[in-house]
Amino acid sequence: MLVLGIETTCDETAAAVVRVDAAGHGAILSNVVRAQLDEHAPYGGVVPEIAARAHVEVTDLVTAQALREADVAMADIDAVAAAAGPGLIGGVLVGLTTAKAMALVAGKPLVAVNHLEAHALTARLTDRVAFPYLLLLASGGHTQLLAVKGVGDYARLGTTIDDAIGEAFDKVAKLVGLGYPGGPQVEQRAASGNPARFALPRPLIGRPEPDFSLSGLKTAVRLEVERLMDRQNEVTEQDVADICASFQMAVADMVADRAKVAIRRFREAHGEPTALVVAGGVGANQTLKAVLQKTADAAGLPLIVPPPKLCTDNGAMIAWAGAERLRLGMTDAFDIAPRARWPLDAGAASFGSGRLGAKA
Ligand code: KG4
Ligand code: ZN
Repeated sequence: MLVLGIETTCDETAAAVVRVDAAGHGAILSNVVRAQLDEHAPYGGVVPEIAARAHVEVTDLVTAQALREADVAMADIDAVAAAAGPGLIGGVLVGLTTAKAMALVAGKPLVAVNHLEAHALTARLTDRVAFPYLLLLASGGHTQLLAVKGVGDYARLGTTIDDAIGEAFDKVAKLVGLGYPGGPQVEQRAASGNPARFALPRPLIGRPEPDFSLSGLKTAVRLEVERLMDRQNEVTEQDVADICASFQMAVADMVADRAKVAIRRFREAHGEPTALVVAGGVGANQTLKAVLQKTADAAGLPLIVPPPKLCTDNGAMIAWAGAERLRLGMTDAFDIAPRARWPLDAGAASFGSGRLGAKA
């Protein structure tokens, strides 16, 4: 089975072809990602209109490249999958419309994929993880701990009450004068910093619900930067490194504690998880990964973190989620609408049956 996947929900235009064998194992035949870093760099963040325009310009080219690199024709493809949300609506519209047009012309089924579900299922492509598992989904827009019980079957255990973790990395990067996206740059600076220099807060640690809060931590970083400016009139390279290291360690401590609580909650409500899985762009962070490894070890669970290229937004995760749905007969009608908001757990029971005219 061959599935083409298209991803345009944020600032990456991506397309990929994934092959699934009879045993249900996936292989990535191509995975093309075109980032829009240059377009958004002057604004220090993603500008929705610029993103939509950039997607319009390259989605067809990126998709053609994905087919070419996989050495397959549209006639060989079994389904076209596209992220139908959640995300910036202009971009989602471009990717979904492209997928509809291609599927319609080629006479193939359409699978409208939830971007978060694609992140959630990636570990099944890379590591063949069995259901049910505990997922930490941490990206620029989302931070959740979820019980992943099956395709379309998710139960939320915890979430952020303010900022997403990736968003906090991006804001801290901005505060200390680093570019966008902030996560990779903060991680890189932190490597030469002292994580114990600044005593930053660890919000919600010890609480019985596995929720997150990042905005107080971000404010604490801002106050430290202001203090440095008052005292020495500048923020040196070493200061930046120490702030990044201290911030990253505070996040890691918080994530480890919240994951520990979520494992307990999971066991109470859903039985034994097969693994602790990390998904979303923040999963690329090696310090976080190291801390979570200890949490997983202590709980006797394997820690599964897909490679960084598959943690950040990509087309392969959309194609794979499309393949998982196609195998279960969960295709979608051509009038399905893009969705700016689309929580993974709400209405999970109706996934694949009545969802926005889904044909199931
Ligand atoms: O999943 P993703 O590619 O896009 C969204 O759907 O949001 O995640 C992007 C987010 C950004 O906020 C970025 O700063 C963060 O993931 N990120 C990282 C790292 N790489 C990306 N955060 C921390 N450490 C990293 N190495
Ligand atoms: Zn994402």
